[in-house]
Amino acid sequence: MATPSRHWARHSFRNLRGEPATILAKYGAIAALIALVASLVLAPIVTALVEDWSRRDVELRSTLVFNTIQEPLVRMLANHETDRIQALFESVATDARVMGVAFCRDDGAPEISSKLMPASLTCEKISRSDTESFSFVKVNGRNTLIASFPVSTREMSGHFIIVHDLSFANQRGAEARKYTSFLLAGVVLLSGLFAMALVLILIRKWLQTFRKAVKDASMSGRKSGDTVGFGMLDRELRQVLRQLKVGRGSVDGEHVDWGKDTLRRIIDAELPGAEVFVVANREPYIHNRGDHGVELQTPASGLVSALEPVMRACGGTWIAHGSGTADREVVDSGDRIRVPPDAPEYTLKRIWISEAEQDGYYYGLANEGLWPLCHLAFTRPTFRDADWRQYQTINERFADAVVAEAKSPNPIVLVQDYHFALLPRMLRERMPGATIITFWHIPWPNSETFGIFPWKEDIINGLLGSTIMGFHTQFHCNNFLETVDRFIESRIDREQESVTLKGHETFVRPYPISIEWPPAALKHQKDVATCRKDVRERLGISQDCKIAVGIERFDYTKGVLDRMRAVESMLDAHPEWINRFTLVQAAAPTRSKLPTYRDLQEEALRVAEEINQKYASATQPPIKLIIRHHEPAEVFELFRAADACVVSSLHDGMNLVAKEFIAARDDEMGVLLLSSFAGASRELSEALIINPYDALSMGETLHHALTMSESEQHERMRLMRDQVRSRNVYRWAGQMLLDASSIRKKQRIYEIAAISQAEAPR
Ligand code: G6P
Repeated sequence: MATPSRHWARHSFRNLRGEPATILAKYGAIAALIALVASLVLAPIVTALVEDWSRRDVELRSTLVFNTIQEPLVRMLANHETDRIQALFESVATDARVMGVAFCRDDGAPEISSKLMPASLTCEKISRSDTESFSFVKVNGRNTLIASFPVSTREMSGHFIIVHDLSFANQRGAEARKYTSFLLAGVVLLSGLFAMALVLILIRKWLQTFRKAVKDASMSGRKSGDTVGFGMLDRELRQVLRQLKVGRGSVDGEHVDWGKDTLRRIIDAELPGAEVFVVANREPYIHNRGDHGVELQTPASGLVSALEPVMRACGGTWIAHGSGTADREVVDSGDRIRVPPDAPEYTLKRIWISEAEQDGYYYGLANEGLWPLCHLAFTRPTFRDADWRQYQTINERFADAVVAEAKSPNPIVLVQDYHFALLPRMLRERMPGATIITFWHIPWPNSETFGIFPWKEDIINGLLGSTIMGFHTQFHCNNFLETVDRFIESRIDREQESVTLKGHETFVRPYPISIEWPPAALKHQKDVATCRKDVRERLGISQDCKIAVGIERFDYTKGVLDRMRAVESMLDAHPEWINRFTLVQAAAPTRSKLPTYRDLQEEALRVAEEINQKYASATQPPIKLIIRHHEPAEVFELFRAADACVVSSLHDGMNLVAKEFIAARDDEMGVLLLSSFAGASRELSEALIINPYDALSMGETLHHALTMSESEQHERMRLMRDQVRSRNVYRWAGQMLLDASSIRKKQRIYEIAAISQAEAPR
């Protein structure tokens, strides 16, 4: 079945093909008009010329006749041989065009005339003169020419008269008019046909050039010098297609003030009427049954904090696992609910997953397999065949949901993360017209590491169903391309950074994710001094004590233990900080069903206890570990109360905690310590970059942070705030959608070209 976009292209191409026919009809009508006008003007002239020519011909013949008979006539007149004259006249009058011949005497004596001389023509009525003369008279309704020649003998004088029928001249004129008209029509028709043929040849050539240019532009690895000239038209086409190239050359966010409205405008202008879907495992709002009835929770997830504001700007549908204990109670019959609950802006569609399925798909394959595989945190991944099967089932279920929810055949589907690596291909097969943007929120390892994954070909094949495959950094894009190159037979275009598999091209692009600016969580915050005071009071920390914060999900990739060891190292090296420093470590329990996560929590509690014990005489315990979920407002309050923030991930796709800390500090103070293994370190170069595996140097950097001058803090924070402000999450989404828009435009051109190729007469 042809998709609407294909219908559109087919329709457009028909228009393109209809155009020459319209042009030809138009020019045909104009040619016919020219022929008509020309024959109206030219025909009378030709008729007059032919008639005049015929008349002169008749005059000449009359003179010729007269010259022939003059001598015998004069002789016969002199001898009064009337009978012979009569016989001579009859013989002259045998010519079909001669109506009569006569001799009129000037003395009025009876005339001699041929028998068939029209009776109405008598000598008195015929004008004569001293020289030969010709006159035109209508006789019995016919045009006649009367030629009169003076003749004289010694005894008398008179005129030889010859009357010619001129109606043949009129016939000739009419015929000439007819033939002239035919001739003119023929000439105009022939030149018109010639011109039409020329136009058709030109159009055919134009289409060939167009197809070739489009084909060339879509071919990989082609150097610009490879093509032989198609002339100006080709150059123009290439220019247009170049402008549509995806990414890099597209509108750069630096010059755009990215915000909610900018994103809305881009969607309206570039993707009018497009349906937007987000497919993500984690839902942005969770309904749980608590002590006070149904309670609403916003999960601790970088993915959610990035995508939620984008969805509020775009509208559309977010399809996610309904994981809350009261989720089923609040949805409609289609398992949908409008969110945010207090001021709805988009739809959340919940998908139900059984516990067994969750164990295989989420805990098993996603979090015991892919998560440790992609993060170099030295935790061994586990791969189980049963988990893989559940993973396939759940990917199918979400693909079914997109197909069922979509009202158009070409929606924009934003597929999120490693939970749905198979879904892009499943969707591509069922919705060929969909624009699928898959974003991989975690790192992509090198090909050697990825090579241990038992179903690597399936995962790569699944992801290559996407239109765009996005990562946080160029480094992860390179790793992905290298992995594809190593394990899948496909065409890789290094210049375009795209992979073509089964005739479908996937563009691989870096889109560094970010946060909304200004962050909603900052809205109701108190000033920094109050936050410092309140937090210290609440946590039982003395007011003059410096605080460093660490806030994240309790995940082994975050380097929580290493951070604590760095604090210990600093206190050993700089005991002046004992009683004057506390690390506030807020950690949200996550994936607690998995032993690695449970072990981490236990280990963290043990290490915190051990370090606090080490400085047991201190009034301020150096580590304050708070294991619970914090809502965004609480997180921001902690950020504002802190002197430093430590992000010590062992490996991280981006890490939005670092960016949130910067966004929280509108006083432009505070120091960020950032792991060089987090994607954010590529952008936030004014942070103090740390190696979480090196406790000693991390401790020294912490000491440096706590002793940094206010002016340096201010300078660094100001630069980082500029960076996060301009490269916010609306830019992240906007650039992906702009690239999607240019791909959609390009695809339309290819479709038109393909249809023209298929339908063009050969
Ligand atoms: C972090 C990662 C995301 C991931 C999410 C899953 O935000 O950066 O890549 O999707 O965690 O967390 P969850 O709690 O849903 O397993």
